[in-house]
Amino acid sequence: MRRKLAAGNWKMNGTRASLAEVEALIAAHPEPACDVLLCPPATLIAWMADRIGAAPVAVGGQDCHARASGAHTGDIAAGQLADAGASHVILGHSERRADHGETDAMVCAKTVAAHDAGLVAVVCLGETEAERDAGTTLAVIGAQLAGSLPEGCTGHNTVIAYEPVWAIGTGRTPTLGQIAEVHDFLRAELVNRFGAEGGAMRLLYGGSVKPSNATEIFATSNVDGALVGGASLTAADFGAIIAAL
Ligand code: G3P
Repeated sequence: MRRKLAAGNWKMNGTRASLAEVEALIAAHPEPACDVLLCPPATLIAWMADRIGAAPVAVGGQDCHARASGAHTGDIAAGQLADAGASHVILGHSERRADHGETDAMVCAKTVAAHDAGLVAVVCLGETEAERDAGTTLAVIGAQLAGSLPEGCTGHNTVIAYEPVWAIGTGRTPTLGQIAEVHDFLRAELVNRFGAEGGAMRLLYGGSVKPSNATEIFATSNVDGALVGGASLTAADFGAIIAAL
């Protein structure tokens, strides 16, 4: 049985003042029925971990370098994220693939680094609107999945997030049938490659998840939770999504 996961990606939003939202979230949901993860900007990881204390909310980074250390100005190693208090790291988000030219091979190398540092990798996949219109969604997702995951992925060290690029921050979401089609496909591919561990990996949906659509999305086949952007920034919205899981 896969435990549901509500993950928040703050992207390049938030300062120390924003940690008040985390305190409010914990106060409103001291014992959530699902796992909860918040991935703030790197500047806030240690502050957030400190503020969370023993509450059941995990903290994650939004990227890591493939190397453990060295001359890589501006980059952060997976071990440094762990040292700051992170237990997870988002990898291969479409914004990083687009803004920083990250390829499947780079995401795969980063996933190895995350695993080596003891972090859970939240590996993101998703088609563009042009790819969906061209009818190549499953081919694109399948190639991203195959290229972005290294050997050794398990239900404990890896989470997959399906985020259609055209649904991110747009208020548009796929139909429930479209989400189910991709998630069922991902599940089959994961089981085919990783066996029982592929069956244990959690599959998150991401892209314009909000309190008003969370319940129906979470009830969709092979959806084990959500990776939430904008609606994870406030305790009210993210709390409502947690309550829907
Ligand atoms: O990683 C989460 C994300 O890309 C979805 O963002 O704002 O559409 O929920 P949003």
